[in-house]
Amino acid sequence: MVRCAVLGATGYTGIELIKILSAHKGATLTALTTRQPQPIPVNDLIPTLAEKSALMIRRHSFSELKNCADVFFVCLPHTEAAQTVAQLLKAGKTVIDLSADARLKNPADYVTWYGHKHAQPWILKRAVYGLTEIYRREIANAELIANPGCYPTGASLALYPLLEEKLIDPDSIVIDAKSGVSGAGRKMSAATHFCEVDENFKAYKVGTHQHTPEIEQTLAGAAGRKVHVTFVPHLLPLERGILSTIYVRRKAGAKPQAFARAFQKRYGAERFIRFRGEGIFPSLKDVALTNFCDIGIAVDLKSDRVIVISAIDNLLKGASGQAVQNMNVRFNLPEEEGLCR
Ligand SMILES: NC(=O)c1ccc[n+]([C@@H]2O[C@H](COP(=O)([O-])OP(=O)(O)OC[C@H]3O[C@@H](n4cnc5c(N)ncnc54)[C@H](OP(=O)(O)O)[C@@H]3O)[C@@H](O)[C@H]2O)c1
Repeated sequence: MVRCAVLGATGYTGIELIKILSAHKGATLTALTTRQPQPIPVNDLIPTLAEKSALMIRRHSFSELKNCADVFFVCLPHTEAAQTVAQLLKAGKTVIDLSADARLKNPADYVTWYGHKHAQPWILKRAVYGLTEIYRREIANAELIANPGCYPTGASLALYPLLEEKLIDPDSIVIDAKSGVSGAGRKMSAATHFCEVDENFKAYKVGTHQHTPEIEQTLAGAAGRKVHVTFVPHLLPLERGILSTIYVRRKAGAKPQAFARAFQKRYGAERFIRFRGEGIFPSLKDVALTNFCDIGIAVDLKSDRVIVISAIDNLLKGASGQAVQNMNVRFNLPEEEGLCR
């Protein structure tokens, strides 16, 4: 049994991890943390949990924590996570970090996109980016897995095969993405409270969203050159899910049939990516509460544009589901274990 600790267990991604790992046949939860002074019984936090758990979510000292698990899921806010990840790596532990603190390779990108200098830049060199279907081989030996952001998961999986097969112009990418409100985490904010979001729909951080360099970094790997994208996120009046509608220009000479073939070649054997085909488009309900990423495409010969639409559940394939998929790869467990409820 792989012993698992979830740090930041009271947040949305932590709660999803508790749900998945409680029913996982190859893993067991051994520590759940919070900063709150009073311990919280797991079933009080998650009344829908089928199992009765004796575990308490509570404060832990680092010395107590470090020996009680084989893998540490870090579900802490950005910057807070970096300090904890650094401490865990120094203690020789295996870490899956759900924050953004280990995702970018270039420390200067943190200054540009997150507005601060990275406090522990050395961890970036130790991290493997955890987009499972693309970096599976590296993840199998990683000490630190930088679990991808939710928007980057949906957008990167949708574009990777087309760039890899050189079917689209890498300078033409427009990502129009819409997310449910749980993407912003459980803490309250004026922008995400009910009255602001209900019956509303709006774009935010246009051209400045912090997930932009993460998407560009992954796509550069597929294209074999620098890639810049136009990324416009929107907030949907829904709890969960991300639908990305992506517009790209077809490369001269790229045959219309080649687009579907690129997806079949890259993802045909994948358990969690369902290429729906040409002219069939996913909806958020198709993937809600699952670890699937569904993708559909249209090739518009009139405008020479290809439209790719992907759908994920931001808290599962976009966070905790993919984190467990990565743990399964890292600890040589069946990749779908715990994820096909
Ligand atoms: N939500 C998503 O869709 C999503 C997707 C991908 C990645 N992520 C990333 O995953 C991480 C967790 O996201 P989330 O949505 O679960 O956030 P969240 O709901 O806001 O939860 C954050 C957790 O961290 C703890 N925490 C808050 N501030 C802290 C601090 N200063 N020091 C230590 N602990 C602190 C909170 O616990 P207590 O207050 O009980 O201590 C809570 O358990 C974030 O870095 C986020 O960017 C989120």
